[in-house]
Amino acid sequence: MDGPLISLADYELAARGALEPGAYAYLAGGAGDEVTLRDNAAAWRRLALLPRMLVGVGERKLEVTLLERSRPHPLLIAPMAFHSLAHAGAEIETARAAAATQTILCVPTLGTTGQAAVAQAVPAAPRWFQLYVFSDRAVSRELVAAAAEHGYEALVLTADVPVRSVRERELRTPVPEGAQLASKVTVGKTAGAVTPAHFAAQVDPDLRWEDVERLAAESRLPVVVKGLLTPEDARLAVDHGARAVVVSNHGGRQLDTVIASADALPAIVEEVGGQVDVLVDGGIRRGIDVLKALALGATAVMVGRPVLWGLAVGGAAGAQRVLEILLAEFDAALAMVGARRPSELDSRLLAPARWVAESQ
Ligand SMILES: Cc1cc2nc3c(=O)[nH]c(=O)nc-3n(C[C@H](O)[C@H](O)[C@H](O)COP(=O)(O)O)c2cc1C
Repeated sequence: MDGPLISLADYELAARGALEPGAYAYLAGGAGDEVTLRDNAAAWRRLALLPRMLVGVGERKLEVTLLERSRPHPLLIAPMAFHSLAHAGAEIETARAAAATQTILCVPTLGTTGQAAVAQAVPAAPRWFQLYVFSDRAVSRELVAAAAEHGYEALVLTADVPVRSVRERELRTPVPEGAQLASKVTVGKTAGAVTPAHFAAQVDPDLRWEDVERLAAESRLPVVVKGLLTPEDARLAVDHGARAVVVSNHGGRQLDTVIASADALPAIVEEVGGQVDVLVDGGIRRGIDVLKALALGATAVMVGRPVLWGLAVGGAAGAQRVLEILLAEFDAALAMVGARRPSELDSRLLAPARWVAESQ
């Protein structure tokens, strides 16, 4: 792509050009007909803004309080498997971008780089650990213990992968043989590489709320349950010890035609927002999307694919730039709706849009 990369969309286009087609298909794709994948982004656009003027917004702060800790801004990097498909430096490059922008990096169970190696390489990166619970619970226990040992501040338990979905883009354009599509995690008795197919067979499809309760009781790290779309499940999560929930449909990669995360958010905020932090992810591509999420009651947002596009284009510097663009857009949007800090945002700033949201 010619010319400067100004927006997250520019980064996606540039990454698409730079990546091997199979890698792009794995990172970009969604489940089924990708209806939810497209609607995640469209749903933020279905909200129109009702900005206030002459508030006096010269002094702004993006600070939020998340899990009782002050954070400089409301962005996190969503847990994503196999950063190596975007860049050979994988999660360590992403961690550098996280450290530079003080963005919490959710290191995945299926990372190319293990949780200890990420922590040792970039100790300044704020980090949470994303947990898949395997049928062999001893593996999960080891992962949890290692997360606590290596300075991870929370456990993100992913709830929406009882089985892995079929992603047709991946089948049509597979990742080339020999690509580093393998995690260093040891699953059960199989030491060494874990591929997505191998992993799918190991994740426990019988995971239940009692398991969340046990994890919350046994771990000294707060448990965040990710992948919820209904207020009923958010209530169950809180009742079973979750300290935060992430409204998410896995970026449209699991069950197609589920509700867009922006549309699911308000009812969940209404149900549990008074008790725990509610985070959201899916289709956040602009600072105004971040602003709308917070106006709907989210404490913070996770950003997925765009970080990998930045990584693909320019390693740590590219991922850092993506986060900086989003933060600059969010800061400007905050000023233009008449707010000085995230805590001043609320749903009075939002109206249903009269235009037809783009769905492509
Ligand atoms: C390539 C890729 C891998 C992912 N792997 C995981 C994972 O291992 N665990 C998990 O909880 N979510 C995973 N997700 C979902 C993200 O955490 C997040 O929910 C989603 O990407 C947010 O949507 P966005 O990409 O539109 O920002 C993955 C997403 C992508 C794109």
